[in-house]
Amino acid sequence: MSSTLQNRRVLSGMRPTGQLHLGNFHGALKNWIELQYQYECYFFIADWHALTTGYEDTSKLEENVWNMAIDWLAAGLNPGVATLFVQSKVPEHAELHLLLSMITPLGWLERVPSYKDQQTQLTDRDLGTYGFLGYPLLQSADILLYRAQFVPVGEDQVAHVEITREVARRFNHIYGRETGFEQRVEKAIKSLGSRNSAMYRALRKEYQEKGDGDALDKARAMLESNARLTVADRDRLLGWLEGAGISILPEPDAMLTATPKVPGLDGRKMSKSYGNTIGLREDTDSVVKKLKAMQTDPARVRRTDPGDPDKCPVWDLHKIYSSAETQAWVQSGCRTAGIGCLECKAPLIEKVVEEISGIAKRAQEFEENPDLVRGIIAEGCERARAAARDTLDAVRQAMGMNYR
Ligand code: TRP
Ligand code: SF4
Repeated sequence: MSSTLQNRRVLSGMRPTGQLHLGNFHGALKNWIELQYQYECYFFIADWHALTTGYEDTSKLEENVWNMAIDWLAAGLNPGVATLFVQSKVPEHAELHLLLSMITPLGWLERVPSYKDQQTQLTDRDLGTYGFLGYPLLQSADILLYRAQFVPVGEDQVAHVEITREVARRFNHIYGRETGFEQRVEKAIKSLGSRNSAMYRALRKEYQEKGDGDALDKARAMLESNARLTVADRDRLLGWLEGAGISILPEPDAMLTATPKVPGLDGRKMSKSYGNTIGLREDTDSVVKKLKAMQTDPARVRRTDPGDPDKCPVWDLHKIYSSAETQAWVQSGCRTAGIGCLECKAPLIEKVVEEISGIAKRAQEFEENPDLVRGIIAEGCERARAAARDTLDAVRQAMGMNYR
């Protein structure tokens, strides 16, 4: 990892919709756990987002929030390196959401694919609300509030990162033009000190004349690590670097990471709404029972019928959990009817049980010590708020609203 990437920010969130399962673990959490050691990471529990699709019954909300925190910690998110927090405990999300709502054309929100899609799919919910229409904008506020460069999300969320970029661009366009910009930039450059200001000018020239991305990265890193710069001056210098006006809200990028397909017990994608999940803290007996009954190649009716792993969801799990050796054993044993399905599942069951019992054991320590969990999250919320306030100060100033 190059040094310029080390202080890049990553932000992502999850809605607290219930106990996490293996699909969430392999689809997102494992990736977050790796990212936390490479970036400055902010991960939050999106409880306001949960309200947008389920405002009527909030009786499970609190329980779901704490369970999600426990799942995260037990799975390996490390509060020593990543900032873990709850969205509604950082009210700055709501303030930025409101301010951004002023400049966001209705059409942008109406055209986000998930808006219409969810309305056709979740017919048992009332999605005709203002809050639901604003879902992607609330997400934009989540991201922009931390000026995150990267947002690890699944395919289904890319459109939300895209609208975030558009909102940021619009904000910078409207509020990034201050009077006397060039003079303020000059003053800011001088405040860097003579060595750094010469370096800044040289790197900017390099980037502007030759499109040298390394020069851009170096200059950004220099600005980000300079403790003497005020937030507003840093924004000016970041903006001038790229040839724009003041860049108050940087445009984020979606970070798409290849994740394995995690099949549910019935062979469809593992998902809470299909009721085909294995929970991250499920007890061993139940995990074993579920896996034993898991769907296999439907064409393999009798023990003597050869099977095709490519048509079997159990094979998808072997791809995640098993060694090359075991995989080869499955392939040949299945295709020749040399092994039965229960036999095939045995090594898999062992691995899954090992993983889940490890998580469950760590979770138990947190379950028995709720104050510890609350303390970790409270600290995360404090850290998140400090970062959020920095951005909101700059936003208010840019909007001419930092009167006291
Ligand atoms: N909408 C995301 C999901 O359903 C959750 C989310 C809310 C999020 N705010 C975010 C993800 C900000 C990334 C960044 O999965
Ligand atoms: Fe699936 Fe294994 Fe049975 Fe083949 S032997 S159908 S891979 S469970």
